[in-house]
Amino acid sequence: MSQIKIFDTTLRDGEQSPGVNLNQLEKLEIAKQLERFGVDRMEAGFPASSKGDFNAVKTIADTIKDTSVTGLARTVKSDVDVAWEALRGAAEPCLHLFLATSPIHMTYKLKKSPEQVIDTAVEMVSYAKQKFPQVEWSAEDASRSDWKFLAQIIERVIDAGATVINLPDTVGYTTPLEYGNLFKFIKETVPNIHRASLSCHCHNDLGMAVANSLAAVENGATQVEGTINGIGERAGNAALEEFAVALKIRSDHYPYHTNLKLNEIKRTSDLVAKLTGMYVQANKAVIGRNAFAHEAGIHQDGVLKHASTYEIITPEMVGISSNTLFLGKHSGRHAFKDKVKELGYELSDEKLKEAFNLFKLLTDRKKEVTDDDLFTILMEIQTDTSTVEKYQLEMFQVQYGTANIPTATVLLKNPDGETVQTACTGQGSVEALYKTLDSLITEDLHLVDYQLNSVGRGKDALAESHVQLVINGEPMNGRGTAQDVIEASANAFLNAVNRYIVQQKTAKNKQILK
Ligand code: KIV
Ligand code: ZN
Repeated sequence: MSQIKIFDTTLRDGEQSPGVNLNQLEKLEIAKQLERFGVDRMEAGFPASSKGDFNAVKTIADTIKDTSVTGLARTVKSDVDVAWEALRGAAEPCLHLFLATSPIHMTYKLKKSPEQVIDTAVEMVSYAKQKFPQVEWSAEDASRSDWKFLAQIIERVIDAGATVINLPDTVGYTTPLEYGNLFKFIKETVPNIHRASLSCHCHNDLGMAVANSLAAVENGATQVEGTINGIGERAGNAALEEFAVALKIRSDHYPYHTNLKLNEIKRTSDLVAKLTGMYVQANKAVIGRNAFAHEAGIHQDGVLKHASTYEIITPEMVGISSNTLFLGKHSGRHAFKDKVKELGYELSDEKLKEAFNLFKLLTDRKKEVTDDDLFTILMEIQTDTSTVEKYQLEMFQVQYGTANIPTATVLLKNPDGETVQTACTGQGSVEALYKTLDSLITEDLHLVDYQLNSVGRGKDALAESHVQLVINGEPMNGRGTAQDVIEASANAFLNAVNRYIVQQKTAKNKQILK
């Protein structure tokens, strides 16, 4: 069984998904979970793309010690320099340099000849190698490139010091047979290929990203790049959890293994879904809500007789527990603390107190508090540590009925500490509420997207809402949880506004300090 390295790009390619916008703390939470999951390398961002990305990559590089951290850079010196500043504190700093090699990209995007592309790639890999012990070079749009040209440029960048060669299927165009053959060709043709490892990076435009990654591995790739839940540009990237479980379940066919802890899949998937607002569809392979549900009578009968009749993956393998009651109304601080630890969280005394209070409030309204509920509470308090003054919901009331006009009344404390109130009507209860909040908030707001989900099942399940707003021209996401759907919706709206305020005030404070 040879080992396949897992390169996670949830925080870079995944974060490029339309509508996703994570703050630094959320990125750090995901990075810590990726480390726990056992990925070999994580791409924390694109440091030269923005100050925010630089700070997030630096924080992750300085914190994560059991996983190699990498950052993306274009083939320009300033990108490499900025990336080095962000990544120099990492346990094993790695730079991910990319340059397109397909005729379409070279002609229309880069406006460079193939010779110029080779020269630029070689120059930048040598430059990066003076700083970084590990340099991965990606031939962007490799799957639509000329194979002989690819072989030529790969040989040159390996001579310049590249330690990993990545052949992305940037637009999700290739097929398993074709992509496998590309890896075989490169392995057989490039004379110095033994001095670097080969990596695959697949997009899912035709729904073949995982199949293409498996084909690459069968033909010499020793590293697989992808994201959690398959999030990413357009139709997304290869879903790492699907790839890893396919290797495990079909080990008779694939003689490879990864370092991933498969029983961390559920938790990693949930964290990414909740923080990005990109919830997985019920029928998604491996982790969807229906992936272990049997509806047809014949199937249910078979599973009762022997699970293997219709179940090839057990829920336990991917970390789905039965999620029964663990703590209730009478549970004390001690039992709570132990459970928090068991879920993998290390909280300060202050945060633990905050979490315990929220838990107690929840037990007043919900009989059975599950791991999922607790995970939602812990995630919320871990990703909100700012002490900046924000909007606080003091009271709201929504009147809704089929015979009256939906009306919301809201009492809000604004960041200046004043209490403001008003009432508005709308076509529905959420619209009335959002119009009222909007009229009390001074920022210019536009609602772009709104989602509502339940945490777990059952009549008393927590409601979880996710919104996308554009605030003063800037996209901002928010999420909120509550027992009631309207309250969760209000919390999500205010969360987006408060994230904007924290971001603005932090940026202002930094300028003053300069
Ligand atoms: O899909 C792609 O080509 C990329 C590169 C930047 C590696 O994400
Ligand atoms: Zn990509």
